[in-house]
Amino acid sequence: MARQYLITAALPYANGYIHLGHVAGAYLPADMFARFLRLSGERVLYVCGSDEHGVAITIRAEQEGKTPRQIVDHYHHANRAAFEQFGMSFDVYGRTSSPEHHQLAQEWFLDFYHRGLLDEREELQFFDDDAGMFLPDRYVEGTCPYCGYDRARGDQCEQCGAYYNQLELKNPRSLISGKAPSVRPTRHWYFRLSQFQKALEQYIAAREHTWKENVLQQARAWLKQGLEDRAITRDLQWGVPVPLPNAEGKVLYVWFEALLGYISATQQWARERGTPDAWQQWWLRSSEHDTFYAAFIGKDNIVFHTLMFPAMLMARDGYILPENVPANEFLNLEGQKFSKSRNWSIDLQDALADFPHSHHRDALRYALAMNLPETRDADFTWSDFQARTNNELAAIVGNYANRVIAFLARNFQGRVPVLDAADAEFPARWEQVARQAASQPSSQVAATIAAATEYFSAEERAVIAAVINGTRTIAQHYHAFRFRDAVSETINLARAANKFFNDAAPWKTLTDNPAQCARTLFTCVQVLRAIGIALAPVTPNLSESIQRLCGITQPITGKANDGQAGDNVWSTIPLPLVEQGTPTGPPQRLIEPIPDATIAAQKAKLGVQQETTSAATDTHKDEPSTPQITIEEFGRIALRTARVIAAERIPKSQKLLRLVVDLGDEQRQIVAGIGKHYAPEELIGLDVVVVANLKPARLMGVESHGMLLAANSGEQLVLVSPRGPIPPGSVVK
Ligand code: MF3
Ligand code: ZN
Repeated sequence: MARQYLITAALPYANGYIHLGHVAGAYLPADMFARFLRLSGERVLYVCGSDEHGVAITIRAEQEGKTPRQIVDHYHHANRAAFEQFGMSFDVYGRTSSPEHHQLAQEWFLDFYHRGLLDEREELQFFDDDAGMFLPDRYVEGTCPYCGYDRARGDQCEQCGAYYNQLELKNPRSLISGKAPSVRPTRHWYFRLSQFQKALEQYIAAREHTWKENVLQQARAWLKQGLEDRAITRDLQWGVPVPLPNAEGKVLYVWFEALLGYISATQQWARERGTPDAWQQWWLRSSEHDTFYAAFIGKDNIVFHTLMFPAMLMARDGYILPENVPANEFLNLEGQKFSKSRNWSIDLQDALADFPHSHHRDALRYALAMNLPETRDADFTWSDFQARTNNELAAIVGNYANRVIAFLARNFQGRVPVLDAADAEFPARWEQVARQAASQPSSQVAATIAAATEYFSAEERAVIAAVINGTRTIAQHYHAFRFRDAVSETINLARAANKFFNDAAPWKTLTDNPAQCARTLFTCVQVLRAIGIALAPVTPNLSESIQRLCGITQPITGKANDGQAGDNVWSTIPLPLVEQGTPTGPPQRLIEPIPDATIAAQKAKLGVQQETTSAATDTHKDEPSTPQITIEEFGRIALRTARVIAAERIPKSQKLLRLVVDLGDEQRQIVAGIGKHYAPEELIGLDVVVVANLKPARLMGVESHGMLLAANSGEQLVLVSPRGPIPPGSVVK
């Protein structure tokens, strides 16, 4: 049976932009895993998509004054594009609002219904009398019955992670009217999760040696408490309609159908490639494929992926189950929780816009990978990003690449050196040792390499051992879901490479022993290739550039491969496969260091409220959006009246006018961006208000000394003018 890997990453809600916390939680580790496995020649399908239903979406739509459809269309496309630019190698990116997904979810619901797995119950639910609607899930906020957090949501507490029945909330209030809701009876269908208690206990127990401790703990705690049946329908308009008569106004619970989004997205992949049944090879047990399914998520999704989804899959015959659920803890930002409403967050798309170079985007992947919250919450800081970029990626990897490539350009006509006749056997010997080591247990590798004293110098043995062992260790870390360790080991490879370059000192042998120098540089290129490929899971763009520097014309970085097996490139990392005479280069700085000013600018953005960002700011319109200032601070701005005495358009600019104004005691030239709203002629003689002590600046090459005040609303713009005759230069305060 051929092994293959199905990889899913939690479908993000299409109700907001992806931020770096989400990326570190699930998408980046899943992508590294997928790329690593593809590089190892494995069949991999990496599935993701947008979660487009539920209260998360409808509340956002209400806040933004849009329809749910407009919201999900916008965020689906924005997030998909950001993911793509960040190198997420999804095989498919689906969406749960698609007709095909609706159909699949309804089919599952009906199957459960007909097989007696659903229980119809009349229950009490919060109801908003003003709005005339039931209040599912997050439409109600209140005090958590477990930890006392006073802004707990109707379904789950953000603070302690508890997941409870809405009616247990203390001091409930409706998110729509703000009032205490009333309670009314309504009808819902419950999934008999309790029936799966035993089977799930066995399922979890069978994985206790491979799952992460944090995941096991949560799953066990749930099982210990005893699983309760769960309502899988809601009173809502937006969602997958309940496919039963008399179920008007009811939809499937978002979690029930979103989990099936993994399957519907796989079906989309299969349809689009013209083999509509091919999804079955990934989700159904078969004698042909041994599918290892890893579901990557953040820690707030553990119960759904370790219990609810497995139970759903068990309920249908023939489906595989998640083999691992490598949930990460949370990533913090500069020591605090990510919070969109406080703007203590970094949206992926903003980071991409601020770091347009693909190697800097890779540096962000690298810095996140080195700080993955794998076993406990972790912290992302801009200074750490800078340090990792400058002191690790640039100073270790970039520097090594540049030393080697520049040396070849200068001394070997930009080619991999041709070895001296006496060294003709060197590559074959190297290959032999590497192949021998590959078939041995790790414990014997050192001896194998040490035994090769007659062929290799001590320095060569050290670097060849580093590559052979490094490749092996990195692979072990990836297979064990230890991504931070995998990446640190990858950088260690580059450290060993620099050490080899230093120890072998080719700048010395260049004149006194050219054959030795050629052999050193030949080795250096092989090791550079090794580093390049080993970096592919974490920094795919940088990997590609490094491979090209080594003369590889078709670099391999573990991109999506249509679920097909490929060459096992990973196993070739320790081999000296770059041929003598191959053109290399050109020399270049692979990673520009990040200057302090860039980091300072990023830090300064945090916590600053922007008018246009989130709906949360809109709901607090009466709060000042800019910080308060003192009267002294206001006094530092010199406002004066001025009379316009000359005005003309600045050539080639629609917006800018050049004005000369009379300030009483002096005349000033001011460039004003009012050309779309005023003709120069109508300004002559007008009294305006200017900021007189603004530092001079140049606009389109024209000096501007001062600024006019104008009121601005949307497209409208009008100049501020004194309401009566007053001499130019009068103080405004
Ligand atoms: N949208 C959910 C979240 O962001 C995750 C859904 S995972 C799925 O927390 F599998 F249910 F789609
Ligand atoms: Zn709580």
